[in-house]
Amino acid sequence: MKLHSPLCDLFGIEYPIVLAGMGGASTPELAAAVSNAGGLGVLGAAACQPEQLREWIQRTRALTDKPFGVDTLLPASVRRTAQTQGDGRADPADQLADHLKFAREFMDQEDLQMPINRGGGQSTSGGNLQVFSKEFFDAQMQVIIEERVPVYAAGLGNPGPWMAELRYNGTRVMAVVGAVRHAIQVAAIGLDAIVAQGHDAGGHNSPVGAMALIPQVVDAVGNIPVLGAGGIGDGRGVAAAMMLGAAGGWIGTAFLAAEESGIAQHQKQALVEGTEEGTVISRSVTGKPARIIRSKWTDAWEHADIQPLPMPYQGMVSGPVMAAAGAAHRADINPGFAGQGMGLIKSIRPAADILREIVETAEASLSRATYFV
Ligand SMILES: Cc1cc2nc3c(=O)[nH]c(=O)nc-3n(C[C@H](O)[C@H](O)[C@H](O)COP(=O)(O)O)c2cc1C
Repeated sequence: MKLHSPLCDLFGIEYPIVLAGMGGASTPELAAAVSNAGGLGVLGAAACQPEQLREWIQRTRALTDKPFGVDTLLPASVRRTAQTQGDGRADPADQLADHLKFAREFMDQEDLQMPINRGGGQSTSGGNLQVFSKEFFDAQMQVIIEERVPVYAAGLGNPGPWMAELRYNGTRVMAVVGAVRHAIQVAAIGLDAIVAQGHDAGGHNSPVGAMALIPQVVDAVGNIPVLGAGGIGDGRGVAAAMMLGAAGGWIGTAFLAAEESGIAQHQKQALVEGTEEGTVISRSVTGKPARIIRSKWTDAWEHADIQPLPMPYQGMVSGPVMAAAGAAHRADINPGFAGQGMGLIKSIRPAADILREIVETAEASLSRATYFV
């Protein structure tokens, strides 16, 4: 049995395995390695300034002649939050001073120094208000359109306003959803594929578990191929998602500790040492609930008298702490986002090896499943 589905023809790839866009991890090197091995590598470009994004796309093209994708965030709630609220609720900007004081005290207690140049760690948290502005999203999309990327994925939100131009260029478009109602909304704009991402996933995810979410999204979106996501740690997970009706897997955590992944070495080591119980859902880094490896920073917010601010403001609070922890190689403070499949990671190895093993175990699992009926 060869692992194959309509996704392969849609994207022009050998196996229906897609590297999830992961900020800080899914760099041109990792995306190209996955594409060269027969999957679809997707750049985690959410926090890339437009010119850096252009450079990443061009670098990916230099590393592979195979199809690849770009993932950014289009969070509608952020657009609203970044405007004046005018509805009587406390403006998050007015609360910033207290939260920054909390972060400074935390850094003092942990003996963390602000690095001169920010380094290490994941970059989705941003820390710069302009990063999460309407102008920023528009400028990123402009680059994606000008560069005619083969595949675009909206990690959050609805790419509807850009569909006509993306389509005109022949770009395949997908969106990540965590609920059936969101799947129905984005299906209506004519997407090529939909990612159903469950609660087990690393990063921003859904309150609904992947096992329950995938078949319900499959049923809701008709002929649009669905990729299962969340907790797919190896080929058995891909086979399970396909049994639930998915046409393939959108996989993040399993590729996080790849040699080509952009996260720091101490973060890769934290993944190798982590278990299925090692993550929590926390708003402490980006302001939106995200699955992250439990750390002193997530614990501090768990016990704090104040609540994390909404996105993008919490990123301004956590950004300096994450950068300082990255520079000091402190995995106890900034181990990074990860999904519950973390316990399946046993070593740091090339992405091509990870992909090959996923394909082999998926094929074996699917053959075994048909043997049983
Ligand atoms: C380290 C990390 C960073 C992530 N960053 C992003 C991101 O920038 N944009 C995005 O759409 N999703 C992001 N995600 C979510 C992934 O795209 C994907 O949905 C998730 O990893 C799938 O679940 P899994 O980790 O269990 O495989 C991130 C996930 C991780 C683990």
